[in-house]
Parts: sequence; structure tokens; C-alpha cells
Amino acid sequence: MKISVLGLGYIGLPTSLLLADAGHDITGVDIDTNIVNTLSNGNLPFEEPGLDDLFNRARNKFKVSTDVESSDVYIIAVPTPLDEEIKIADISYVKDASKSIATVISPGQLVILESTVPPGTSENIVLPILKNSCPSGFYYAHCPERAIPGKTINEMVSNERIIGAIDEESYKKAKEIYTSFVKGNIYESNVKTAEFVKLMENTFRDINIALANEFSLIAEEVGIDIWKAIRLANLHPRVDILSPGPGVGGHCLAIDPFFLAGKSKSSRIVKLAREINDFMAFHVVKLSKKMIGDISNPTITLLGLAYKGNVDDVRESPALKIKKIAEGEGFNVKVFDPLVKDHSSSCKDIKEASVDSDCLILVTDHSEFKDIDPESLPVRSRNLVDTRNFLDHERWENAGFNVKLLGSS
Ligand SMILES: NC(=O)c1ccc[n+]([C@@H]2O[C@H](COP(=O)([O-])OP(=O)(O)OC[C@H]3O[C@@H](n4cnc5c(N)ncnc54)[C@H](O)[C@@H]3O)[C@@H](O)[C@H]2O)c1
Repeated sequence: MKISVLGLGYIGLPTSLLLADAGHDITGVDIDTNIVNTLSNGNLPFEEPGLDDLFNRARNKFKVSTDVESSDVYIIAVPTPLDEEIKIADISYVKDASKSIATVISPGQLVILESTVPPGTSENIVLPILKNSCPSGFYYAHCPERAIPGKTINEMVSNERIIGAIDEESYKKAKEIYTSFVKGNIYESNVKTAEFVKLMENTFRDINIALANEFSLIAEEVGIDIWKAIRLANLHPRVDILSPGPGVGGHCLAIDPFFLAGKSKSSRIVKLAREINDFMAFHVVKLSKKMIGDISNPTITLLGLAYKGNVDDVRESPALKIKKIAEGEGFNVKVFDPLVKDHSSSCKDIKEASVDSDCLILVTDHSEFKDIDPESLPVRSRNLVDTRNFLDHERWENAGFNVKLLGSS
């Protein structure tokens, strides 16, 4: 098959390479000329375990371009960010991608939307754009992506997938594409249900993290350790409480609940969960303020910028919120993230980041942070807030640090 993949980001690029590795002829299309040039020069625009090997294996079946050309199949994997002001999905990238496909589509070709979208987007936005230039005879499916950064390639291959199609023939054609590299089961649905299912999955996780966060706030009020309490509660055979933390980040969990609830008149818990998770960044700043007390020109150091451990993705990261809130409260904020290399505010190493610091805040659970030697840090005051219950507290206390664990007395 000749396949064009629109959007060569965290989802589109690995998808393109897996399809190329399965023998299809792939054109990766991106409007960002930096990405296209980087790939044409044989380099990858971001890091992801296994992507290098896949790129080397699949390169002879993979070319890149800034323009879409006529293909058997078009896969749309463009961003769907949140419009921060009105808290609804910004589907302008999906619209633009659909319009560019509309200029080349002809009957018999298949369009697959992978981007996460609010229910009804295919029916009300994408299909009318395509039908305007090709009134009938093309096939269409929505196949949302479930892969997680850090394990993208494995999950793209092994996860089960839902294909929501406009008709049986579209389902069969889309399934044929995915079975060329997916080992997980594939399930049939209609388009709007597939759009809804993806949003429910991420909203489910966001709400359950909010519940853990609310438990942690109550635990601090009543004076117990939430981490021990959760371990005990989870011994119940039908209870599985998630871990509290500094908030929720990434391109999915922090955004997708708004796609579901944004325009709904019935939704309450979904928006409340978002509020609770966003509140955690304020709470973390409050905890560090309390530890530092009243000193002049206080400095805090954030350990981690990425939204979760062992990835370099900072989108919607709680660390960015904590930084902004703390700066707004008059703190100097230094940041160290060994994986996020080109961020303007990151120090080059832990020593530089901790010079004269009054409080270290563990925000991201990168494995590398376990190796920090607390004895060696040139801090001004020995305070540590651990928002993930990640570090060896005894070791830090033995090095003279006051340790505050989020969710404990
Ligand atoms: N990253 C994840 O972990 C993840 C997981 C599941 C679902 N998703 C969803 O997948 C979609 C893509 O996410 P991502 O993380 O790959 O985004 P991304 O920002 O990493 O990459 C998207 C790429 O699309 C390009 N682009 C924008 N408009 C274009 C157009 N008209 N034509 C061609 N290219 C265009 C951008 O330049 C960018 O390189 C989103 O809807 C997201 O919600 C992402």
C-alpha cells in the first residue's frame, strides 16, 4: 500500500516506521520543515526507546515531505491541543490536515483519523471536508491511539485497538492496515463511539488520580501517611487506588477530559477532577513554602521538568505549573532534568541546580534521581519535598535533610 501519514510527532512517526517496516511505502508528511529536514538528514526529531533501530530498518520504505500526494491510505496524526481560554479542543490542525487530503483524494482511497478528538468531529468536521471534494466512494475510519511515551513502539504493536468505521468496507480496509503491524486484538465500532471510548479511557485515569490526590490532601489534614494507607486499601480485592502526585501532565490525560466534558451540560465529576489535579501544583508550592519559612530571597530547585519519569516530554507538565506559581510567589526557581536537554530553564547538572537552594522538590520520578548523593549538594537549606514517594528518605534524612512527603503528616 502507498500510505501518507500526516503529522510526524510522537504518534505519527513511530506509526509511519512500523508501517514501513511491515512493507508499505510510506510518505511522512509534516508542515514543520525542521522535522522534515531532520528526518531527511537521517536524524530523529525526538527520543523514544527502539525508534532508532526501527528507523534504520525501515528507512528505505520511508520518505518525507511537506506536501500530501495521492495515496491508497491517509493517516491523520496531527495535534489536538486544548484551547486554554475556552477549555475545548482546538481541532484546527485536524481541519487543515483534512483539507490537504481533500485536494488529492479520489474514490477507492481510505482516510484514517488517529488524532484524539471530541465525539462528532469525524461526522461534523472531517467527513464534510472530504466529501466536498470527493462526494462518494472513499472509505473512512477513526482509530484512536493508546500508546504511552517511553513504551510507544511496544504498545503500538501489542495494544488492542478500536476501529470506528463509517461502513463495513471501511472497517475491513482499516483493519488490513493495522493487522500488518498490530499483534493485539482489533475491535469494530462506529466512528462516534470510537471517539468517545478514547476520551473515556483517559478521563477514567484522570478522575482516579484526582481521587488519590484528594485522599492525600485529607491524609495531610488528619495526620496519616497516604502511601501506607493506599497500600493497605489496595489489599481489598476490588480496590485499586492510584498514586497521588504533583498533578497530571502529558498530551492526553490533562487535556482529553475537556474534550469529553467541555461542551456537556451534564458533566460534573470530570471537570472537578481536572480542578483537583491542577490544584496539586499550588499545594506543592505551599508545602515547600512551609518548609522554608521566612527567609529573604528564597530559592527552590525542581528535580524534573518532564510530566512523568524517564521521558523527555514536558507537555502540560506539573513542573511547569509549579515553576510558574512559585515564581509568582517571589521564589527563584531552578530546574534540573537530565532528560529534557534543550529547555531554556534547565540547569546543566544537579550541582548547578542546587547551589544555594532552600528546598529541593522531586517532581518527576526519573530513575536517575535515585543516584543523587544528598551529602554532596551545595544547598543553602537542607529541605526536600518528595511529591512521588520516590527517594530513599532515610538516606536524605541521614544527610541532614528535612523531608516532607506529599500526603503525609
Ligand atoms: N503522544 C501521545 O502519547 C499520544 C497518545 C495517544 C494519542 N495521542 C494523540 O495523537 C495525536 C498526535 O499526537 P502527537 O503526540 O503525535 O503530536 P505531536 O505534536 O508530537 O506531533 C504532531 C505533528 O503534526 C504536525 N502537523 C500539524 N498540522 C499538520 C498538517 N496539517 N499536516 C501535516 N502535519 C501536521 C506537527 O508539525 C507535529 O509535528 C493527538 O491527537 C494526540 O492527542 C497522542
